[in-house]
Amino acid sequence: MKLPTTAFADRMQDLRTSDIREILKVTQSPEVISFAGGLPASELLPAVEMAELARDLLLTDGPKALQYAPTEGMGVLRQLIADRLRDRFGLNHEADEVLVVSGSQQALDLTGKIFVDEGDVVLCESPTYLGAINALRAYRPRFVEVPTDDDGMVPAELERRLESNERAKLIYVVPDFQNPSGRRWSVERRRALVEIATRFGVPVIEDAPYAELCFEGDALPPVASFDTGGLVVFLGTFSKILSPGLRLGWVAAGREILQRYVLVKQGVDLHTSSLTQLLAARFILERDLDGHVARLRGVYRARRDAMLAALDAHMPPGVSYTRPAGGLFLWVELQSDLDARELLDRCLVENVAFVPGGAFFTDGGHENTLRLNFSAMPEDRIAEGVRRLARVLCDVLRSDDRQARAACVA
Ligand SMILES: Cc1ncc(COP(=O)(O)O)c(C=O)c1O
Repeated sequence: MKLPTTAFADRMQDLRTSDIREILKVTQSPEVISFAGGLPASELLPAVEMAELARDLLLTDGPKALQYAPTEGMGVLRQLIADRLRDRFGLNHEADEVLVVSGSQQALDLTGKIFVDEGDVVLCESPTYLGAINALRAYRPRFVEVPTDDDGMVPAELERRLESNERAKLIYVVPDFQNPSGRRWSVERRRALVEIATRFGVPVIEDAPYAELCFEGDALPPVASFDTGGLVVFLGTFSKILSPGLRLGWVAAGREILQRYVLVKQGVDLHTSSLTQLLAARFILERDLDGHVARLRGVYRARRDAMLAALDAHMPPGVSYTRPAGGLFLWVELQSDLDARELLDRCLVENVAFVPGGAFFTDGGHENTLRLNFSAMPEDRIAEGVRRLARVLCDVLRSDDRQARAACVA
């Protein structure tokens, strides 16, 4: 029996399957060179160490690992997260200002529940993280894109939009090696964001899964480090520095806001897995998380370099791309009249996949952009995949009778 759409809540009308999930289904087979996902390198996930730790954990502290736990998270892990936030980022949150969540994706959903009524305005970067759009969309906001350049959101543009949108409820940002663009906000822009948000009294959600994955120099101070009024909510995760399968992230915020996250999380899943929380805590206490992150940085830096070298060598004139100093992604802009979705269809025939960029814009458009992930494939596959991508692109340009632009070397 087919149910009428009225059988479902109104909010379901706005929800769509994510383009990325659909593409990932096609890219499961081993012959596909996939730049589509946002996956950490599988071969670097610490499976053997986790196996040893899990066995020991279950034999020595089994009942605790297998029992219900507080919604806020296990004390030991909250303390370790608070310590890491202080040491890495200079954020001074006490352990009771940290909530452990089931991946930072859950934090995005909780954020919508707490802050967004139907018709409220969520301000975001242009482009922004697709998973945040999807999570928040269930709460039926109006998204307003804020023009964004290589240094982050343009402050005057943000101010203008806050002035003209009385119902502005949230400013959502990914300041470090953003998904999808790979860009990192300058320190000045971070400071300016806090100043403006404070003046307008609008909370900021700082989503920082890539902050530790910097390839050159140290992490920049988070937006939250400039906050004196308790308006910035900092989201972090173990997904990119340890393992996404653990489903462990955190919310760090002042107590007034954090207690609301605890309240809504209670209704969602009572608490995050006790087993994976204790496992992550043991990894941090007994193994070398910093060494592991350093190894990831080295491997991802080499993969980024391989991708940039291949793009430099093969892309035809008129194509531009970011040169990210960290994270997992870079962002490509094709000639303005090209459509990355059509290009993807042709690339899939050649067993190469990526994510067309249009999905990352809440206002639509930008169909000539695409996101490339460089962390999940070894360097030789990256070089081969980019070569194929460039060859398909050159074929498209030639077939469109745009010979002049098709000075291709692919
Ligand atoms: C910007 C951003 N936020 C949140 C997430 C979700 O991460 P998690 O695995 O912690 O749920 C991702 C995952 O790719 C991301 O890129």
